[in-house]
Amino acid sequence: MRKINLAVFASGRGSNFKAIIEAIDSGIIKDTDVSILISDNKTANALKIARDYNIPAVSVEKNLFDTKESYDSFILNILQAHNIDMVILAGYLKILSPVLISKYQDKILNIHPSLLPQFAGLYGLNVHKEVLKSNIKVSGCTVHLVTEEIDSGRILAQKTVEVMSNDTPESLSQRILEQEYILYPQVIEVYKHEIFKLD
Ligand code: GRF
Repeated sequence: MRKINLAVFASGRGSNFKAIIEAIDSGIIKDTDVSILISDNKTANALKIARDYNIPAVSVEKNLFDTKESYDSFILNILQAHNIDMVILAGYLKILSPVLISKYQDKILNIHPSLLPQFAGLYGLNVHKEVLKSNIKVSGCTVHLVTEEIDSGRILAQKTVEVMSNDTPESLSQRILEQEYILYPQVIEVYKHEIFKLD
């Protein structure tokens, strides 16, 4: 079976990126490499993780480009030079332009820390603050395809997490993250068979 080349995009902490690398190392994701990490933030911890695991990484400065299209064209060239099959957004805070979305149609995945479509468009702790404000009893995470409309592409899978009465945004975020680390690798492994007709 041919190997699938992933590019992971991350802007900050990079804990999902790390979970994906470890899922490849442990065989949960098979016949796949993370060929490159791309960041829009030169201080992202994800870049340090890439270094620790010997994964090629680039940070691309936004202010060197006039438009988000020219920024994404630059990134597209990098993806094509690395023969990237699929793009994995893992805490990437920049909204992708059609330049990337059209070239990688149905091949860009994102993870969101809520049960979409609930709390779409929010990110970081704001998601969990709103969950706690709304008094709902169940939250979770969603892996979905990336389309031009934010957090609205086809949902591939979700995992639920119970909201506790004493939860803070931080504690809820932490329990959901632990489920993200399980869900995202599983979905990548299953979805790559669907999209690349590997079987
Ligand atoms: C995660 O909560 C993920 O759901 C969201 O951004 C956060 C990224 O965290 N898209 P990390 O950088 O993977 O630690």
